[in-house]
Amino acid sequence: MSRQILISTSMLSADFARLGEEARALEAAGADWLHWDCMDGHFTRPLTHGPLVLQALRDLTTLYFDAHLMITNPEAQIPLFAEAGADGISIHIEATDEPARLLDDIRARGCKSCLTVNPPTPLADIERLLPHCDVIMLMGVMPGYAGQKYAGETTARIGEVRAAIDRAGLATLIEVDGGINEETAGIAINAGADVLVSASFVFKHPEGYAAALRRLRASGQPT
Ligand code: DX5
Ligand code: ZN
Repeated sequence: MSRQILISTSMLSADFARLGEEARALEAAGADWLHWDCMDGHFTRPLTHGPLVLQALRDLTTLYFDAHLMITNPEAQIPLFAEAGADGISIHIEATDEPARLLDDIRARGCKSCLTVNPPTPLADIERLLPHCDVIMLMGVMPGYAGQKYAGETTARIGEVRAAIDRAGLATLIEVDGGINEETAGIAINAGADVLVSASFVFKHPEGYAAALRRLRASGQPT
């Protein structure tokens, strides 16, 4: 049976003066999730969306809100993002000493738990943490900016996590974030990804959002 591929469009490349219209346009174009790149000016240099922004847009769309917290002290913000209407909350393994406890807290608040891992971070602890994760997100770039190039070593890391999930018999999804275009989407899907994040490919596509989403979805051959 083929896996369903979901596209999580990152609002980082949206027109920030028209976030509501952009969210509605992405929903109409066939996006599955809206990805919110929440940065704190500390874990990553830029400052972007906080829970108030998600809350303001929550009722404009029924799309799954995928909140990617690129922040230090994620523990303090998890309750606020849950209350703002996030469907999934993603914390960085590099930002906490207690990932399992935070992931369990995310689930206890009724959200999907996601653990995110930067390209240079070893995957050694991931197998132990898998039972706490609804989603594992592998970064294809260092967090901070849209439009960066996909790090080639991510592909083998997707395969490694896919094998660990299958060994454990879990339904944890693999999400890949950063540097996704038509070519790298196919590579990531074939390696075992379920969810692809895309900012610049979708927002800058000359044929528009719907065509970009169709192209990403059609890129791989999930088995
Ligand atoms: C990077 C963000 C990504 C990024 C994706 O810090 O987490 O979501 O915006 O942008 P593209 O798709 O342009 O690489
Ligand atoms: Zn992201």
